[in-house]
Amino acid sequence: MAFTEKQEALVKESWELLKPNIPEMSLRFFTLILEIAPAAKRMFSFLRDSEEIPQNNPKLKAHAVKVFKMTCEAAIQLREKGEVVVADTTLKYLGSVHLKNGVIGPHFEVVKEALLRTIKEAIGEEKCSDEMSSAWGEAYDQLAAAIKAEMKEEV
Ligand code: HEM
Repeated sequence: MAFTEKQEALVKESWELLKPNIPEMSLRFFTLILEIAPAAKRMFSFLRDSEEIPQNNPKLKAHAVKVFKMTCEAAIQLREKGEVVVADTTLKYLGSVHLKNGVIGPHFEVVKEALLRTIKEAIGEEKCSDEMSSAWGEAYDQLAAAIKAEMKEEV
């Protein structure tokens, strides 16, 4: 089904609400990732060597922001063009960085779950409608599919 203007607006609106609280949002996102999949700790350079999740780590923030921002961009592209368009070089880089760090297909589901829960908690249970969650979910799935396809090509 086509990605609608309404879905794009829901994603953009909620990202605007999350943006002012990047440090908290990033921390919560990674806390949820590790709650769902404790073994993921080993993959991230900034988590591997510390007992606790670091409070103000630029790399942790960068990964969280990338996932949220690129999903938001994917939503815009899906509405405008009907598909996710990531520059070839970016996609190749994303494919190789994830392969190199031991990321596999099911990890993308873990991150999706953490992303949706982070949004729900930040926006509030009532304000975050099912429609809003599924718009994020759809955009994320399409972006993840593009990255996963690149990871397969490299093997
Ligand atoms: C690195 C984006 C999903 C684990 C990166 C980088 C980007 C990125 C841009 C490079 C950061 C840099 O070079 O500084 C994304 C996007 C995702 C996604 C847009 C989903 C749509 C995942 C998933 C996992 C994961 C599902 C595994 C749970 C990693 C790891 C690194 C990385 C371990 C290396 C970071 C480090 O240790 O410094 N990702 N990622 N990513 N990503 Fe992802």
